[in-house]
Amino acid sequence: MSGLVDGFGRTIRYLRLSVTDRCDFRCVYCMAEEMTFLPRAKLLTLEELATLSQAFVELGVEKIRLTGGEPLVRKGILTLVEKLGELAGLRELAMTTNGSGLVKHADALRQGGLGRLNISLDSLKPERFKALTRTGDLSQVITGIRAARRVGFQSIKLNAVLLKGRNDDEILDLVNFARDEQVDISFIEEMPLGAISEHNRGETFLSTDRVREIIEQHYQLLPTTETTLGPSRYYRMADSQSRIGFISPHSHNFCDACNRVRVTAEGRLLLCLGNEHSVDLRAVMRAHPGNMSRLKATIVAAMQQKPARHHFTTDGDVQVVRFMNMTGG
Ligand code: GTP
Ligand code: 5AD
Ligand code: SF4
Repeated sequence: MSGLVDGFGRTIRYLRLSVTDRCDFRCVYCMAEEMTFLPRAKLLTLEELATLSQAFVELGVEKIRLTGGEPLVRKGILTLVEKLGELAGLRELAMTTNGSGLVKHADALRQGGLGRLNISLDSLKPERFKALTRTGDLSQVITGIRAARRVGFQSIKLNAVLLKGRNDDEILDLVNFARDEQVDISFIEEMPLGAISEHNRGETFLSTDRVREIIEQHYQLLPTTETTLGPSRYYRMADSQSRIGFISPHSHNFCDACNRVRVTAEGRLLLCLGNEHSVDLRAVMRAHPGNMSRLKATIVAAMQQKPARHHFTTDGDVQVVRFMNMTGG
């Protein structure tokens, strides 16, 4: 048995693995102010996370991205990174983080074999950053970004979710920050996951086409075909190494080229970010411990349930009740 192909002929090579639903931030577009998190027994153990990763790699997955919640708040995360770093066949091990733990952990992550880091950064104004993340400290994140560069991460990408009226006046400042720090940056359209009563998504949607127009008033953007196997469409600027990416689930749907699946912190295999359907891999692992072929057969069979595309709209209605912290995007 080799290769993961879904019912639409798409080959799955990229696994996004959530290691915890917990986070030290409460970004307004991601979580409600009061959240309840999973009890520990429901989370996949480190061993289960490693077994699952091995199964996916044996089935042809080449890239694993660790997400959360915030992956760096998971106990034992460095051990997991080291273990996955040794998986033969895995070409790329990456992480998406909010950056708050990088000052402490960047070095060990690099030593453990993590190749690429994506770091969320939605504002460069300390008070606004605090308001958007509800708990975050901007200076800690900026120091973390610099620590990651210092320990030798070659590929760092910032992620900015843009919200009309909240941070869309900072587009150029964020581009210039990325240029100064010699890192890439992606601008992301917000997706309607989880009902958040304090935040009205219908009012804040901003298309990445508009973002690109704003940037192009200052920099010529040269399209590239470069890809990270992810949804970003990348552009370069003539006088900088930094790339600018646009992730546009609404305005430029990328589902036709989808190459990824997700596993939630409790071990549910999600075939699409915009769909509730899932397959319980934790149940399979706990009912049949050590039975790798059974686990792999379950994963192969699940691919036939991957839908053609998501059906997100921008009117603020929630299409998926699951909050983003279950899957890390
Ligand atoms: P790389 O391409 O490896 O750099 O990663 P990425 O940009 O795909 O991942 P990251 O974790 O940085 O996520 C950035 C944004 O892309 C988040 O808002 C994710 O929710 C979004 N995203 C990633 N994959 C998908 C996808 O398959 N569908 C949708 N709709 N959004 C996605
Ligand atoms: N829509 C788009 N992106 C989101 N993220 C979190 N919630 C949402 C949302 N509702 C982003 C974070 C982080 C990445 C994992 O997903 O900002 O960069
Ligand atoms: Fe935490 Fe990331 Fe969600 Fe922000 S977007 S609350 S940093 S999981």
